[in-house]
Amino acid sequence: MKNSPPLDHAHLHARIAALAEIGAVEGGGCARLALTDEDKAGRDLVVSWMRAQGLAIHVDAIGNVFAIRAGRESGAPVMTGSHVDTVRTGGRFDGNLGVLAGLEACRALDAAGIVTRHPLCVAFFTNEEGARFQPDMMGSLVHAGGLSLEEALAATDGAGIAVGDELDRIGYRGTMAPGTIRPRAFVELHIEQGPVLEDSAVTIGAVTGVQGISWHEFTIGGVSAHAGTTPMRLRHDAGYVAAEIATFTRRLTREIGGTQVGTVGVVELRPNLINVIANQARLTVDLRNTDETNLREAEARLFAFVDATVAAEGCTVAVRKLARFEPVDFPPDMIARVERLAIARGRSVMRLPSGAGHDAQMLARLCPTAMIFVPSVKGLSHNVAEFTTPADIEAGADILLDLLLELAEA
Ligand code: GLV
Ligand code: MN
Ligand code: MN
Repeated sequence: MKNSPPLDHAHLHARIAALAEIGAVEGGGCARLALTDEDKAGRDLVVSWMRAQGLAIHVDAIGNVFAIRAGRESGAPVMTGSHVDTVRTGGRFDGNLGVLAGLEACRALDAAGIVTRHPLCVAFFTNEEGARFQPDMMGSLVHAGGLSLEEALAATDGAGIAVGDELDRIGYRGTMAPGTIRPRAFVELHIEQGPVLEDSAVTIGAVTGVQGISWHEFTIGGVSAHAGTTPMRLRHDAGYVAAEIATFTRRLTREIGGTQVGTVGVVELRPNLINVIANQARLTVDLRNTDETNLREAEARLFAFVDATVAAEGCTVAVRKLARFEPVDFPPDMIARVERLAIARGRSVMRLPSGAGHDAQMLARLCPTAMIFVPSVKGLSHNVAEFTTPADIEAGADILLDLLLELAEA
């Protein structure tokens, strides 16, 4: 294997900071929800950097952006990348690090005059976060053939605005058919977004896979009535049912145990007034598990609880599946490469599964895939206080470069 040239750490930090100025929110974080004006501005800045590096840019029909660095041979590239959209209360590293470190790896090769055997490709995928449009990982899922382009374009946000219309509006509905650029391998550098690496005092995570994800929305229908006059036994209280589901979700995670997690992140009541029984409640339940059998059991028990509670309160329920992905295991050979390269750099390394969803989880359907994690301070992410130390970013970016070079020369 070729020795890696030096990577310009200061330049990587400067680009992370510059991108974080777009959609900056108080506390050092970012709000660049998918396909908003802020997302467009972030995309434009990253594309301008891709152009300045002389990369060949392709935009597909779901707005994924691919920047190719030619190799000595033509053919399938080694791909890296992530996303540049954020949740509304996002940090500056989630997704952005992987894209910008990929570009920095290309700059390092340029500076050293290295042309790899296989082309390299740095990509960013549309709507990884899924905070505005569901499902999450939308662009990479379409790229991998797991969701039709038509379905993805038709997905709407809470205001009824469609992905396709927003892509047109911000100028990112490209002409390339999704899936056209089929990588020979995919590597994603990402912050861990959880506390395990920091807690273990380890710098590099060799990610073993991504846990399964189940997202559902429940809309409970009740009857609005006077909070003072309506006896408890005669109520059809949608707010009460929502609260029961929320507390059951926590109880469910304890009962299933192991790696089961569960979150109720959205609860909206109507009419949302102090002295009016809610006639509607909309809530979301996010269930995740590294084990598919356990995740199915969690879903089945949740649905049974919802049905029983709705019936007992004389309410109605409409259920919408927003996302469902089975757990993914990365190939042992790819995990071992991350470990070996980390050790070669004198870094501490451990294996761990990813608790968050990632584009790599979709790319794994197409090609051998690896993920490199670096620590998140206090385990915080999807939080403006999200932080990864400069030294850890540098360690991760170096190993990304090593792995890209190794795969592109293989
Ligand atoms: C995506 O970032 C998710 O894991 O929710
Ligand atoms: Mn991410
Ligand atoms: Mn995220």
